[in-house]
Amino acid sequence: MTLASAKNQRYQRITLIGFRGAGKTTLAKRLASLLNWRYISIDQLIEQESGIAIAELVKQKGWDTFRRIESEVIEKSAGERGIVIDCGGGVVERKENMRWLVPKSLVVWVDAPPEIIYRRLKEIGDRPLLNQKDLKADIVENYFRRLPFYRRYGMIRVDTAEQSVAEICEHILKKFKSA
Ligand code: S3P
Repeated sequence: MTLASAKNQRYQRITLIGFRGAGKTTLAKRLASLLNWRYISIDQLIEQESGIAIAELVKQKGWDTFRRIESEVIEKSAGERGIVIDCGGGVVERKENMRWLVPKSLVVWVDAPPEIIYRRLKEIGDRPLLNQKDLKADIVENYFRRLPFYRRYGMIRVDTAEQSVAEICEHILKKFKSA
């Protein structure tokens, strides 16, 4: 889809929210390539802005600094057109982030059951824990604490444990094009 045709659309962006390990990045990249839109990763922008990897940033400066930089990069990029935004799992925690992200955006909640998320994250092992000392407890506590936010902001929910990437993209694009 060209930028010119995107102009006539109700949605000028697709924003993917959801817990870490739910599958946002894979879907965002595929959607961007299907639409011929630009893929934007908020995590990558944070790393560019701070000059270090997220795990290191959190270790050195703490979560408050991470969240502040996260909000800054969201404010800067959220107004662009023709982009698929791959958000970190915690963007829903700050109201202002969602105030910048929601307008003109189809917000997709990418979900998966916590036990599947645990299996995936255990293998990757590069995400800093949010507040608990062990990965399972960290996922369970934060997943359920954030559920109301994901429910509130997600205009559609997709479950990556139930459907393939191709099926999910088809579903999202149908919704996007019918708007
Ligand atoms: C976070 C999720 C991460 C990253 C950071 C914080 C969170 O992104 O932004 O570690 O608060 O859930 P992913 O959801 O892409 O893993």
